[in-house]
Amino acid sequence: METFAIEGGKPLSGSLRIQGAKNAALPILAAAVLAEGQFYIYDVPYLKDIDVMLEILREIGASAKHVDGCVDLDTSSVSVPVIPEHLMGQMRSSIFLAGPLLARLGEVTISRPGGCDIGERRIDLHLAGLTALGAKIEEAEGYITFRTKQLRGANIFLSFPSVGATENIMMAAVLAKGTTRICNAAREPEIVDLQNFLNAMGARIRGAGTDTIEITGVPRLRTVSYRVIPDRIVTGTFLLAAGVTQGHIELTNTIPEHLTALIEVARSCGVEIKIRHDIMEIKSMSRPRAYDRIITSPYPGFPTDLQAQLMVFLSLAKGTSVIKETIFEGRFKHVNELARMGASIYVDLGSAIIRGGNKLTATHVEATDLRAGAALVLAGLSAEGTTCVSQIHHIDRGYERLELQLQQLGADISRVSI
Ligand code: UD1
Repeated sequence: METFAIEGGKPLSGSLRIQGAKNAALPILAAAVLAEGQFYIYDVPYLKDIDVMLEILREIGASAKHVDGCVDLDTSSVSVPVIPEHLMGQMRSSIFLAGPLLARLGEVTISRPGGCDIGERRIDLHLAGLTALGAKIEEAEGYITFRTKQLRGANIFLSFPSVGATENIMMAAVLAKGTTRICNAAREPEIVDLQNFLNAMGARIRGAGTDTIEITGVPRLRTVSYRVIPDRIVTGTFLLAAGVTQGHIELTNTIPEHLTALIEVARSCGVEIKIRHDIMEIKSMSRPRAYDRIITSPYPGFPTDLQAQLMVFLSLAKGTSVIKETIFEGRFKHVNELARMGASIYVDLGSAIIRGGNKLTATHVEATDLRAGAALVLAGLSAEGTTCVSQIHHIDRGYERLELQLQQLGADISRVSI
């Protein structure tokens, strides 16, 4: 078992290039099965979830190599319409293969997906969307089989703008007969990246980034080379790491417009952020100010994936802040661990009230999920003494060797096997 040992209290400094976005790379790799042949996908991060996706792709007949950040993928021989249960259980994003495999093979069997334990993670919108496109669905003994003779375009209204359901429906609809309109679609930048990838393959999609996406089916798609966008959640995590250590860092390969909500909050709290093209310079020389009300919401609102990291930052601020979590009800598991480090946080009805100003103290804490784990690392960077964060396999699902990236910025952090 591996643990991070962090000697806190050092301001971060220096420059770091941001990794490609996990949440863009995963659906893009799944979408590649919509065409037959050779793909080169650049800036794919080295993460556990990406390894699982590549393993699933190999199991269904593709060949895949990940070299120097580029995935070299040949989808010519994809022929197996079953996602193995042990892989499906390891990562929720395996559900992304339902849409594209159904479109390519006319049939796919999956089991209920796994992933971070951050609340009930339903797939009803994925199932309803694929049914609307003409899939017949059978569910038995934990397996779900989708079958179709020919997918057909449809008008689909999502009762909630689910990121994954929007992407799954887009991928199934590109080869359907006729036009599909997704209303109340999610607007996340990763959906725009998926649209750009699919359109480069010859798809006809418009509207990603707005709440209505229109997909006109085409008979076939071609292979392409493509570069994945930078990871906005990783960018935001490092921005907040500079904030909690009162550091001065530069992040390159960023898209600052993808982080408008965080930048607004961080600036109001006193962090200086300068933007030049794809470079962000972050300087935080004094204790942050509190922020009275942050509500996580679908993009362009404040991202749920940065809520835990922001909570660490606000627990060091002068004054009381409130964060309301509206996306995942189980996303306050870091609160108990932060309290053990001296933070004063009270949770009531989906809101966390953070009384800032306490110095955090080093201790042994446990990562309960990916972003909670990242938040505990930030807490460790700010606390005096040695913080040990265990269960870091959660963190490895979303951050590419986080300890090496932080070391590059001068942090004293190491991965220890125990
Ligand atoms: C994606 C991101 C994840 C992020 C989340 C919200 C990827 C790989 N993961 O997850 O990092 O935290 O968006 O920004 O891109 N829901 C339903 N029925 C469904 C699907 C979702 O009720 O069929 C609900 C969920 O329970 C949740 C909400 O919708 O409350 C948001 O989920 P969704 O947007 O689908 O998130 P993911 O795509 O799983």
